[in-house]
Amino acid sequence: MTKSLNKWLRKIHRWIAVPTAITIPFGVTFKLVGDEQLLAVWKRWDVAQSPMILTLAITGSYLYLLPYFVKWRRKNNTTKGESK
Ligand code: HEM
Repeated sequence: MTKSLNKWLRKIHRWIAVPTAITIPFGVTFKLVGDEQLLAVWKRWDVAQSPMILTLAITGSYLYLLPYFVKWRRKNNTTKGESK
């Protein structure tokens, strides 16, 4: 169960990273150019980009904490084993 959750969260993180990585340079360029029309176009895409970055932040935080969860669980299991 947990292993498949890890696998899916990593897959989601990887696949959402692709459109996010493509849209970030466009957003930065449009904002730097400052053209009204480009900014109007960007406003529509920005609606999609913010949830993608939020999803990356959530799944990324999980991936970051994963080794610590594993260590903590392993340590707890070993302690339980020792007390027997
Ligand atoms: C707050 C935001 C983010 C956090 C906390 C985060 C964190 C992480 C962590 C901890 C990993 C796993 C590294 C490992 O196991 O060695 C990872 C993998 C990855 N991250 Fe992020 N990340 C974030 C945003 C992004 C963004 C914005 C992108 C690209 C646009 C991105 C692309 C990737 C890719 C491609 C991987 C490799 C996935 C795989 O193992 O197949 N991440 N990230």
